[in-house]
Amino acid sequence: MKPIQNLFRICAVALFAVLFVGCAPKPNYSDNPEINRKVAELLSKMTLEEKIGQMNQYSGNEFTTGPQTDDTTVIKQIEKGQLGSMLNIVGAEKTRSYQEAALKSRLGIPLLFGLDVIHGFRTTFPIPLGEAASFDLAAIENGARCAAVEASAAGVHWTFAPMVDISRDARWGRVMEGAGEDPYYGALVAAARIKGFQGNDLEADNTIMACIKHFAAYGAPTAGIDYNTVDMSWGEFYNYYMPPYKAGAEAGVATFMNAFNDFNNVPCSGNTELVVDLLKGKWGFKGFVVSDWGSIGEMIPHGYAADKYDAAVKASSTSDMDMESRCYIEELANAVRDGKVKESVIDDAVARILTKKFEIGIFDDPFKYCNKEREDNLTLTAQTKNSARDMAKRSIVMLKNDNTLPLNKNIKSVAVIGALNDSKFDMKGNWAWPGDVESVVTVRKAFEDRGYKVNYAEGYSLETLKPTNVNEAIAAARNSDVVVVAIGERAMHSGEAYSKVELTISDEQQNLVAQLAKTGKPVITLVMGGRPLIFKEATENSGAVAMTWWLGSEAGNAICDVLFGDYNPSAKLPMTFPKRTGQSPICYNAKRSGRPSMLHYIDDDAKPAYAFGYGLSYSTFEIKDSKTSTQTIKGGEGVEVAFTLLNSGKVDGEEVVQVYVCDKVSSVTRPWKELKGYAKIELKAGQSSSSTIKLAPEAFGFYTNDGDFIYEKGEFDIFIGNSSDNLILVSTVTMK
Ligand code: BGC
Repeated sequence: MKPIQNLFRICAVALFAVLFVGCAPKPNYSDNPEINRKVAELLSKMTLEEKIGQMNQYSGNEFTTGPQTDDTTVIKQIEKGQLGSMLNIVGAEKTRSYQEAALKSRLGIPLLFGLDVIHGFRTTFPIPLGEAASFDLAAIENGARCAAVEASAAGVHWTFAPMVDISRDARWGRVMEGAGEDPYYGALVAAARIKGFQGNDLEADNTIMACIKHFAAYGAPTAGIDYNTVDMSWGEFYNYYMPPYKAGAEAGVATFMNAFNDFNNVPCSGNTELVVDLLKGKWGFKGFVVSDWGSIGEMIPHGYAADKYDAAVKASSTSDMDMESRCYIEELANAVRDGKVKESVIDDAVARILTKKFEIGIFDDPFKYCNKEREDNLTLTAQTKNSARDMAKRSIVMLKNDNTLPLNKNIKSVAVIGALNDSKFDMKGNWAWPGDVESVVTVRKAFEDRGYKVNYAEGYSLETLKPTNVNEAIAAARNSDVVVVAIGERAMHSGEAYSKVELTISDEQQNLVAQLAKTGKPVITLVMGGRPLIFKEATENSGAVAMTWWLGSEAGNAICDVLFGDYNPSAKLPMTFPKRTGQSPICYNAKRSGRPSMLHYIDDDAKPAYAFGYGLSYSTFEIKDSKTSTQTIKGGEGVEVAFTLLNSGKVDGEEVVQVYVCDKVSSVTRPWKELKGYAKIELKAGQSSSSTIKLAPEAFGFYTNDGDFIYEKGEFDIFIGNSSDNLILVSTVTMK
């Protein structure tokens, strides 16, 4: 465009803005200027009360995850424009009826419907920690994609996922919702899940907005107790806990959620250092931030706010939307009128929220996601079930196998022991309220469907997990060719508020395995749970042990796929499994100490039961001829690690080759080793192939305590292997 034309265009736009938008603020939260214009125009028409209404979110009573306020006037409030969003209202018809109420409000601003779509929707996928074990980003992205297709057809606009909180403490029950302990891998999983939910186009009717949660450091509560205080240095935060949040912002996530905990002595819902300076400031995040359930009001028991008024003031710039605490709707207008909160702060929050409403297209068509026909046709389809089964088999981690697996398909009978092996509800896992229980395939059902004679015995009560009729279980084992026994915790024993002081599976359950082993039949133990657990005795008494987490709708089929060798297990642990509960928190990438040889307990060593990155295959793999592309680099340069992988076993399979880096000497203390690259490679039996893993420049830098990412001269050891505790040194690279 010529300069004169350009000038003319600028003047025309300015004149238009003055005429039509008056003195309203000029929000700039969309890449689409037309949306920014519409947001400004709408904002200029809104009263203070209507603006605050947009910042207010209530829960419907379908599924609740927090203390709900009894309120029979919700519809009336929606009609008055006092509500911008609802969670836990699901289904094309139900969301439509609430949306109709919103359209009756003075400005007819449509509602946003949010929901915890955590691992699938009607079709349930493995719990996120299980999915993370796959080290298969394409499958993880596909899982989120399937969930988005089903949920968007049921009126859902927005999922409160992914949870990207790094955690090293299995006592914390919410480890089941995350990707484990590693920041590098956690960041990749965060981006994959966001891409799956949001696709490339928020406006498409089969995508939903994602929400990175919980900002920040929620996964590091003191003593592993959910909601407890978090005490960490900035250096620790930047290097270990921050990367997945930052990756989420960079991947274009639509929203963030505050955390319940305090961080650096301030509750996250009112933490300006985190939200204003870092997220919205340094990272330039353009979406909006929702509080966690009631977390604005919870700043009162935190002792950080005196009352709801004070809480509303203190959260106004850090939480754009108030989930269920009602501090905003009750007090924010007063605070603005009193001059305690600037109206520009309100405008900023509302502009962010309205921008997303425009971007997903509900101003043009408020009912575009409430389509009963789509809902009926797109849920629980053969395709979503196949995807769930594929994801589930990729999530199973084989921990031990004394040539017991794969099972010979010619066996006639199997003793399926343990009530968990036949519990549809548990197989679904926690955080799966919308999941369809009836269609869940249990382990018992999957063996029956394959035509085997199944001798089932519950072994223990599902309610108490205490043994019931052990003799029946032993008799079932004696009458069968093999024994498949499930032990562990119940699905609802991990998740929010389910912290545990003891990670060891009960003596009684482990004793059941011992009794079954005495029959002399091959015993395969399936460990079911949402977190790392401890099960040494059961392992000693089993020919094979697999960690099967909660695998969702297709759990039984996926487990049979692996047990019979139709799928060769390839998953690796995304979290360290401790040997004793007292080792928690535990992780592979711990800092170095001045007395490494003395890092132990007087009653045990500090080694885990199973290391991060560990997992067996029915095949064996050898990594050979590894070398780096260079011996010297400059800051900002990466390194390629070339190697040959040989499948030296008798069956086709996949191996996750992992590359770790150790920064040998630096101006701050650094970990023993950090995962910085990996590749999942599929090879036929006997086949070998040459591959390269690229280490990004960032693999050789770190964050200072001030949050600056820097490169320092010095040496870096580069290791390769198939588990964080099975590595060889490839080479030492020098940064000059
Ligand atoms: C949880 C969030 C969840 C919200 C809504 C809270 O209790 O911490 O992760 O998204 O409830 O269900």
